[in-house]
Amino acid sequence: MGEPSKSSNIYKYCTGRMMYINVAVCLSVLLLVIGLSVGLTVRPFKGRDALDSAPLIDGHNDLPYNLYGKLNNKLSDYPFESDLTHDDVWGKTACSTCYTDLPRLKAGKVGGQFWVAYVSCSSQYKDSVQLTLRQIDVIRRFVERYPANLQFITAAEDIEPTWRSGKIASMIGVEGGHSLDSSLAILRLYYDLGVRYVTLTHTCNTPWADASPMDDGYVYNLTEFGQTVVYEMNRIGMLVDLSHVSHNVMRDVLAITRAPVIFSHSSAFSVCGHYRNVPDDVLHLVKKNNGIVMVNFYSEFVNCNSSRNATMEDVIKHINHIRNLIGVDHVGIGGDYDGVGSMPVGLDDVSKYPNLFDRLYESREGEPTWTKEDLEKLAGRNFIRVFQAVEAVRDSLKSESPREDVITGNELYIAQKREGLNPGSCQSAIEWNDVNTTDIEQSVSLSTITNKARVYRSLEVEGC
Ligand SMILES: *[C@@H]1O[C@H](CO)[C@@H](O)[C@H](O)[C@H]1NC(C)=O
Ligand SMILES: *[C@@H]1O[C@H](CO)[C@@H](O)[C@H](O)[C@H]1NC(C)=O
Ligand SMILES: *[C@@H]1O[C@H](CO)[C@@H](O)[C@H](O)[C@H]1NC(C)=O
Ligand SMILES: [Zn+2]
Repeated sequence: MGEPSKSSNIYKYCTGRMMYINVAVCLSVLLLVIGLSVGLTVRPFKGRDALDSAPLIDGHNDLPYNLYGKLNNKLSDYPFESDLTHDDVWGKTACSTCYTDLPRLKAGKVGGQFWVAYVSCSSQYKDSVQLTLRQIDVIRRFVERYPANLQFITAAEDIEPTWRSGKIASMIGVEGGHSLDSSLAILRLYYDLGVRYVTLTHTCNTPWADASPMDDGYVYNLTEFGQTVVYEMNRIGMLVDLSHVSHNVMRDVLAITRAPVIFSHSSAFSVCGHYRNVPDDVLHLVKKNNGIVMVNFYSEFVNCNSSRNATMEDVIKHINHIRNLIGVDHVGIGGDYDGVGSMPVGLDDVSKYPNLFDRLYESREGEPTWTKEDLEKLAGRNFIRVFQAVEAVRDSLKSESPREDVITGNELYIAQKREGLNPGSCQSAIEWNDVNTTDIEQSVSLSTITNKARVYRSLEVEGC
C-alpha cells in the first residue's frame, strides 16, 4: 500500500482532538483543497465563450444563390441537415462556393444570419425584379422548412430571443440596387416581404448610384433620385447597405442619410487596397454616423499579397484596423460564405467563427485588448444597436408620406445607352414616354463615358 494521500491526512487531523484548538486552520486548509479542485475543473475564458453570451450575427451569406444555381430553388433536393463538407454536390471539392449547412452553422455558433437575395447584374433592365422575388421566396420557404433550427425575423428585438431559443434568427438582404429596377414601389414591397437591407449596388452601376469598380472615378455618384432612394429607405426602416458601392457613393450617402448605415460584407482598404474595401476617411464617417462595417473574409479582399494564401490572421488585421481607427462599436462580421470561391486558411467554412473569436481574445503584441464585452459587440451587439437605431428613425418619421418620385425616362435612357444597350427595348413603363432624345444629345456626351459605364457589367447582354 502506498502512503495515505495528503487530503486524507488533513481529514484525519481535522476530525481528531486537535480540531477544537485548530478549527480555524482546519477550515482554511479544507477550503483551500476544495478551491483548488474546483479551480482545476473550471476552464479559463476563451474568446468563443462570448458567442454563448451574445448572438453571432453574420451580415452576408449567399446560400440562396447556390440553391438557385444548383437546384432552381427546389429545396426538397437540398440536404441542409447533413454535414456536406465532402458531399458530391455541395462539398468543397465539387462546389467552390459552398461552405454552409446546418451542422456547420451550429458548430460555428451562428445566432443570426442575413440570407441574401442576389440576382446577377445581367438581369438589370430586364427580369431583375421577378428573379429577386424568387430569391425572397426561396429564403422564406427555406426558413419555414426547418422550424426547429431557423426562424424568420424582421425586427431587432426578435434577434436575441430567437437565438436564446436555440434557433438562427434569419433575415433577408437584397444585394444590389438593380433588384429595385429604380422603383420606390418595389423597395417598399420588398420591405413588406420582410427584406431588411438593400445593398445599393452590386458590381454594376444603377442609373442612380455607382458600383465599386468605379472606385474613386464616377459616372453618376449618387444622383438626386439616389438620394431619394436613401431617404425612403430611412423612412420605412430599410437598412442602407454600402458594401459594393463606389467610394464616392459611400461618402455621398453618409453625407445625407438620416439613419446609421451598414457595410454587410466589406473590409478595410488601407489593409488591402481592393476597391470593395472601405477607405479610412469613410471609416471615420461611419463612426460619426454610428454605423457598422461587417468584415468580409473573402481571400481576395483581406490579403493583397498574391505570393501567399490568405489566412485568418489577415482577417484579424482588418478587424483590428477598424477597431483601432474608429472604435470597437463599429465593427462586425459579414463572412460572405457561399458568395465567393476562396476563403482564408482557418476560416474554411461556417463552422470556424469560434476560432476567430479565440484568436482575437489572445490579443497578441501590438494588438488591442479584446474583453468579453468587446467580443460580444463584434459578434452581434453592434449590429443590433444599428438595427434598433434604424427602427427608431423609421418610428420618428411616421408622419412623413411615402415618396412618389419616379426616375425620369431620360435617366433610364442615358444609363442604358451608356452601357451599350438598346434603351427601353426590354421595358414598357409609362416613364419611357417622356424620353426626349434631343435633350439628351444636347446635355450629355454619351460616347465619352460609355466604356466606363459598361466595362464592369458581369455579362454583356445586348437588347432583349
Ligand atoms: C462625383 O464625385 C466626385 C468627388 O466628389 C466629383 O469630383 C464629381 O464631380 C462627381 N461627379 C458627378 C457626376 O456628380
Ligand atoms: C508576400 O508574401 C511573401 C511570401 O509569404 C513574403 O515573402 C513577402 O514579404 C510578402 N510581401 C509583402 C509586400 O508583404
Ligand atoms: C494556396 O492554396 C492552394 C490550395 O490549397 C495551394 O494549391 C497553393 O499551393 C497555395 N499557394 C501558396 C502560395 O501557398
Ligand atoms: Zn457581395
